Amino acid sequence: MNKNLQSLCFVAVLAVSIGILSPSMAKKSTKKLDGNQLFQQNCAGCHAAGENKVDPNHPVAGSKELATLASFKTYLSAPPGHMPYYEHIVNDDSTLKALYNYCKQLKKLPFKQASLPLKQASL
Ligand code: HEC
Repeated sequence: MNKNLQSLCFVAVLAVSIGILSPSMAKKSTKKLDGNQLFQQNCAGCHAAGENKVDPNHPVAGSKELATLASFKTYLSAPPGHMPYYEHIVNDDSTLKALYNYCKQLKKLPFKQASLPLKQASL
């Protein structure tokens, strides 16, 4: 009986320590945002649904700057005009790649549809 109680205690301690450790592990895995989230947080303010609200002649969708990951990186490293500089994206390859893949699949839409959020537009 005593032995059983001892092993029960051990299991309890183990469970608690796993419970303490797991939130920090969970944080690590959720820290990386996917391309959609990155775009919504950093770019959608000016480039909602891939268009360009500041300068309509320079939409992201279909941009030649998206030809390769390297050209995309070069563009974001030295953005012209009113494009902000995104150091945390440019310097993190996996973040940059996720955002690049998202931007690549943005399609040029007719003007009215383009102002809708992407999810609604595809419904
Ligand atoms: C403050 C508004 C603003 C934000 C935020 C912004 N951009 Fe831009 N973006 C612009 C403007 C303005 C241009 C046109 C720059 C120019 O050529 O003068 C542009 C141009 C671009 C182009 C080139 C389009 C072309 O072919 O000429 C790409 C690609 C681009 N942005 C991607 C992004 C990405 C990716 C993000 C998010 C990480 C982002 N932008 C965030 C304003 C913004």
